[in-house]
Amino acid sequence: MSAAPGNELRIIGFLCNWCSYGGADTAGVGRMTQPTDLRIIRVPCSGRIDPLFVLKALVNGADGVLVSGCHPRDCHYAEGNFYARRRLEVLKRFLQVLGIDERRFEYTWVSASEGQRWQEVVQKFTERIHELGPAPKITPDQMAMAETMAAQPR
Ligand code: FES
Repeated sequence: MSAAPGNELRIIGFLCNWCSYGGADTAGVGRMTQPTDLRIIRVPCSGRIDPLFVLKALVNGADGVLVSGCHPRDCHYAEGNFYARRRLEVLKRFLQVLGIDERRFEYTWVSASEGQRWQEVVQKFTERIHELGPAPKITPDQMAMAETMAAQPR
C-alpha cells in the first residue's frame, strides 16, 4: 500500500551507512516504488543507535521507527550490529512497559545489494504503521518514564 499524498504518516528510519543506506540507494537507483512516509537518518553503524533515539522519535510524534543495519557478521565495525540487537530487543520490552505499542518499532538487516529486500521491508513496515494509524499522544506519565530512562547513567 502506498500512502496517497497528504495521507502520509511520520516514519523515521535509522539506517547504517555501509549496508542499509546502500540498500535504500540501490532500490532508488533501480526505480523500485516505495512508500514516501519514511524519513531516513543515516548513521555510521546500527551500533551507534542509542535506544533513546528511537524513544525520542516516538515521544516527539513519529508514528513508527525503523532501524536497519548490516546483516549479522557483515558489520563494518565487526560487532556493532550485535550490540544494536541487544539494546533494541531491550527497547522493545521497554516500549511495552511504557504503554507504547511495540509494533510501531522494528529493526532489521539489509545489505547494500538488497534493493529488492529494502523495498519489501519498507513496504511491509509502512503497511503495518498505516494499519495502526497515527500514534496516540504520549501521556505525561509516559513522558515522565521516558525522561527517567533518559536520565539513567550508561
Ligand atoms: Fe552497518 Fe555496523 S556498519 S551495522
